Amino acid sequence: MAFPEGFGWGASTAAYQVEGGWDADGKGPSVWDTFTHQGGGRVFKNQTGDVACGSYTLWEEDLKCIKQLGLTHYHFSLSWSRLLPDGTTGFINQKGIDYYNKIIDDLLTNGVTPIVTLYHFDLPQALEDQGGWLSEAIIESFDEYAQFCFSTFGDRVKQWITINEPNLFALLTYDLGVFPPGVPHHGTGGYQATHNLIKAHARSWHSYDSLFRKGQKGMVSLALFAGWVEPADPNSASDQEAAQRAMAFHLDIFAKPIFIDGDYPEVVKSQVASMSKKQGYPSSRLPEFTEEEKRMIKGTADFFAVQYYSSRLVKYRENDKGELSFLRDVEVEVFPDPSWIKLDWVCVVPWGLRKLLNYIKDTYNNPVIYITENGFPQGDPASLDDTQRWEYFRQTFQELFKAIQLDKINLKVYCAWSLLDNFEWTQGYSIRFGLFHVDFDNPTRPRVPYTSAKEYAKIIRNNGLEGHL
Ligand code: GAL
Repeated sequence: MAFPEGFGWGASTAAYQVEGGWDADGKGPSVWDTFTHQGGGRVFKNQTGDVACGSYTLWEEDLKCIKQLGLTHYHFSLSWSRLLPDGTTGFINQKGIDYYNKIIDDLLTNGVTPIVTLYHFDLPQALEDQGGWLSEAIIESFDEYAQFCFSTFGDRVKQWITINEPNLFALLTYDLGVFPPGVPHHGTGGYQATHNLIKAHARSWHSYDSLFRKGQKGMVSLALFAGWVEPADPNSASDQEAAQRAMAFHLDIFAKPIFIDGDYPEVVKSQVASMSKKQGYPSSRLPEFTEEEKRMIKGTADFFAVQYYSSRLVKYRENDKGELSFLRDVEVEVFPDPSWIKLDWVCVVPWGLRKLLNYIKDTYNNPVIYITENGFPQGDPASLDDTQRWEYFRQTFQELFKAIQLDKINLKVYCAWSLLDNFEWTQGYSIRFGLFHVDFDNPTRPRVPYTSAKEYAKIIRNNGLEGHL
């Protein structure tokens, strides 16, 4: 089961989850610094990313892990407020530039291709104070930051992700309010943020296209969170429609405007409009793009970056009480098949990833696909001999092999989440996704490979799995 020559084998991290150094050398606060420092039980045991894996000072240790695995790609994110402490180019933090220059240069020296995400959930607090992603002003700020990054690092970075999982982020942050600033806007905030996130992404893609592409010759996309969903009863038309709605509301709501035609899926527009009407709103809670905006948004991604963890079953559930919520607008009930192994919120369904890849191929005109995150958690304390977890990775690689060979999916890169155990947002350090174990009680934060890391290194060395299908 050899993968195509040149296939990319990577691992991912994100700034707030690994760096620590939250106020080191002039870094400004991000919303996650504020949120974790406020306590209040919204994060497991009120834990913080103040130190996390210490990657701000321990980059050399991360590099050792990357070399031990033999990665061809390393996917990490930049901390916006480490580079621009108040979110604007009014003040630029040279120490932040130095830190990322060192990472990028060391990667390239070691033959590892950087995939760089500009923004992974950690908005500068100063911009949240001005309304964050609920305010249209963010589009300009994001574009300014993106241009700054392209011009500072783009001579060496050729693979850019503008925004990490804007679809999940909009929901968790501005609809449900479980991510900072922790204020829910049920049924409205998620859509408002979605609107601004799409426009900000598109705007920065155009900046790259017109100002940098010719000189730098890189590629720009955004990384979308996607699960796979199956109708609970495959013979039920209403369950099938429920599955389509679930895909439309969580994936196509971003992917269709960006990859196809600049506008939201019809089913999303009609569901939200009719629900809003029932609830007495004068117009739909889903904002509309102007024709000019649609033209600006359409076609603004150079590849399809997707992040897969889990699958679910779905069936129709009427919103009979007229509940005001993004999730209730979809009119589905979502649940795991009882036969699936469940690790925390992740159901182990490797074949769901193959189906998802086929969905993307069929819906989005067979794009080049990067899997920029995929992984399995362990509880804490975790066993270094995670043979069972490795079995899930192995099955995933088998599915990817079938997807490439049999389904002709244009898959170019796979990145495991994550290089290291790290700060898992509201779950703190209670679950571990790393290929390397990190001891968070030890000030030197030693990194020790799990069995999965050793096995992944073999896969990378062989460019695939041993044996045949
Ligand atoms: C993703 C997110 C990562 C990581 C991962 C595992 O949604 O981008 O930051 O937390 O989930 O839960």
